[in-house]
Amino acid sequence: MSKSYKIAVFYYTQTQQLLNILKSLLAPLEAEGYKVIYKAIEPVVPFSFPWTSDRFYQAFPETRQEIVFENKEIDFSDVSDADLVIMGYQPWFLSPSIPFSSFLQQQTTQNYLNGKMVMTVVGSRNMWISAHDSVEWHFFKANCNWIGNIVLEDRHNNLVSVLTIFRWLIDGQKEASRYLPEAGVSQQDIDSLAALAPDLSYALENKDYKTLQTKIADKGFVAFHDNLYLIERTGYKMFGFWSKWILEKGPYMSEARKFRLTLFKYYLMAVIFVISPFGTLFFNLTYPLRKSSLQSVRNKYVYLHH
Ligand SMILES: Cc1cc2nc3c(=O)[nH]c(=O)nc-3n(C[C@H](O)[C@H](O)[C@H](O)COP(=O)(O)O)c2cc1C
Repeated sequence: MSKSYKIAVFYYTQTQQLLNILKSLLAPLEAEGYKVIYKAIEPVVPFSFPWTSDRFYQAFPETRQEIVFENKEIDFSDVSDADLVIMGYQPWFLSPSIPFSSFLQQQTTQNYLNGKMVMTVVGSRNMWISAHDSVEWHFFKANCNWIGNIVLEDRHNNLVSVLTIFRWLIDGQKEASRYLPEAGVSQQDIDSLAALAPDLSYALENKDYKTLQTKIADKGFVAFHDNLYLIERTGYKMFGFWSKWILEKGPYMSEARKFRLTLFKYYLMAVIFVISPFGTLFFNLTYPLRKSSLQSVRNKYVYLHH
């Protein structure tokens, strides 16, 4: 059996979480002799980590409108013949992160992806659906074959993970504190991803990409929650209005838009802590009515039915 397969891995990560996820998946293949080439996506002006509250909200309008920021140039020459392209990304404000979205929109990337087999790996808090839709659109334009999608998330309750992610992103504390657990995807989930390596290997060696997503889903490596889906859909639309309204006041980091960003911040807190718990209650009460219509949505996201 030939092991000369080449996998190109493009990723952006601020905390290294996503790189750890990718390495867990790919280390067993590298050990078997697959050539795995990692290519970091790096913005020319980095988004420094941890964030300040101010910079965090300043990134919102451009993220939601997918405004392109300049990335350092990536050399594709040693991966032009890759058998598989893996793209690691994370949602920011329900859209693909600025560095990843910018990378996807670059003409060089679009040209590179043409005709390629592509798999995505997402490291999120728990809301990745709208970002996925946007990625689908960029992949469609690039004319590539999307063969698999892995989504790891923070499994804690939605409200708990909001608190811990702010502690992580803004205070830099990932570790558990007195009343709150560790932030992010658990180490156990990251480690367990290695169990998918044989399925990936099977798909590559047999050129059988059709069953890969079912295996990913059946092993529980794509997290989908009906109630969060509904909250996210509404949130994504509202973010569209907010981002345009804030952008009217000025570009990224401008002082002139600070007041509107502050209003957005309060809106976001109210949605998360006041409105979404009622949304979840409403969802639970009406679940029997929605169950069958949500099934096709679930198929789209979990089984990658386009
Ligand atoms: C500005 C910002 C916005 C984020 N918004 C979301 C979101 O909408 N949904 C979500 O599941 N996670 C969100 N996250 C968490 C990230 O997707 C990611 O899991 C986390 O930041 C880990 O960072 P890394 O992948 O860059 O290492 C956000 C993070 C940042 C920095």
